[in-house]
Amino acid sequence: MRAFLGDKVIVLGVTGSIAAYKACEIASRLVEHGAQAIPVLSASAQQFVGAASFEGITGQRAITSMFEPAQNPDIEHIAVARRADAFLIAPATANILAKAAQGMADDWLSTTLLATRAPVVFAPAMNMNMYSHPAVQANIATLQSRGCAFVGPGSGQLACGDMGPGRLIETQAILEALAVALHHDKPLAGKRVLLTSGANHEPIDPVRYIGNRSSGKMGHAIALEAMRRGATVTVVSGPAEVPPPYGARVVPAHTASAMLEAVQAHWGESDIFIGAAAVADYHVENPPAAKQKRSTATVHLELTPNTDIAAWVGLNKRGHQIAVGFAAETHNHLEFAQEKLRKKQLDLVVANAVGVADSGFGKATTRAWLITDDHVSAALPLMSKEALAALLFDAIAGLPAGVSAAPRA
Ligand code: PMT
Repeated sequence: MRAFLGDKVIVLGVTGSIAAYKACEIASRLVEHGAQAIPVLSASAQQFVGAASFEGITGQRAITSMFEPAQNPDIEHIAVARRADAFLIAPATANILAKAAQGMADDWLSTTLLATRAPVVFAPAMNMNMYSHPAVQANIATLQSRGCAFVGPGSGQLACGDMGPGRLIETQAILEALAVALHHDKPLAGKRVLLTSGANHEPIDPVRYIGNRSSGKMGHAIALEAMRRGATVTVVSGPAEVPPPYGARVVPAHTASAMLEAVQAHWGESDIFIGAAAVADYHVENPPAAKQKRSTATVHLELTPNTDIAAWVGLNKRGHQIAVGFAAETHNHLEFAQEKLRKKQLDLVVANAVGVADSGFGKATTRAWLITDDHVSAALPLMSKEALAALLFDAIAGLPAGVSAAPRA
């Protein structure tokens, strides 16, 4: 997330909800990722949390009123509105949504929301009946039609005891929505990206499986980058330590055959396929329904090859569609990747080094090469998976086929 939030100026508007205390964690995560967070507390937020907490966390003066003696009231809100890379209102009450939708300017935050041209993200938190009220929904629709982004709310037990939508969504989802909003360029708007991510668990019996070490980090970075560029993203996700980002449509698929089925169901409507999952190459045919008892005898597993998903996609590609595969290799990276490109009829293969300390399964960084029909990149420098995802989409944009063509209706 540092790649997206680092050095950004984020105005963190906190309004009067019981969830206001969670904004301290949001402020902390913004700072941890290198952003400059400017806290703004509405009058009612100050009934729940204090300015001192936010000042301690962010190192910035918290703005608590339009008319503080230390500032020039005519200038400061305009200056901050201009300087901000984004506004994040978390938690956002029904009141701030109404004021923003109506263009009211009766305190610092509502006034500055009118003055800014930076992207605005709202993370609503309120009672479920308030949230579903037509007036609130109409305000949300108005703000969305003006380009404001919404993240959440989550569902669950609310402070008032009700169960339903209204909880402030998790901080990670808020940061992901912010990362998407911060990317102004949307060259993939109208495009659909289908991605496989994570590991496979092929059952041996009801309690044991054959698996691999994919964490889902590479898939997460690709999905987020695709959404930042405006695409609609479907992630066919195996078990993963890092789940797909907020806003992606997720199709869970634990085995290679479930992944294949999901890819087959969604490929027809997609423009770009990216196979970043570590798909299992084999499965146990008809695993027993009962747990196998331990014994001292040697056990022999018979393994049947799985259908190659990337090869199926390559074979079933239509004119405008683009198919990208990954090759995880310990050696001969380029040779094996070129063979995959050719055999699976892919448009691009990302070869990445595995079995080294700083690249591959579970690592935050990667050593990679991008291989197309007519170009093999030099070894890319060690980089974050987020940076590789950005280079990957730059490379896809440069491919001769499809992606630069007009979006489908
Ligand atoms: O999730 P992380 O911890 O971040 O790790 C990321 C990663 C290392 C898993 C990822 O970057 C990666 O390289 N994924 C592909 C791993 C892999 O299975 O490579 P492979 O060389 O075995 O397979 C090549 C390609 O064929 C892959 O696109 C794979 O999805 C695909 N494949 C493989 C088998 C199969 N039955 N069907 C497939 O489509």
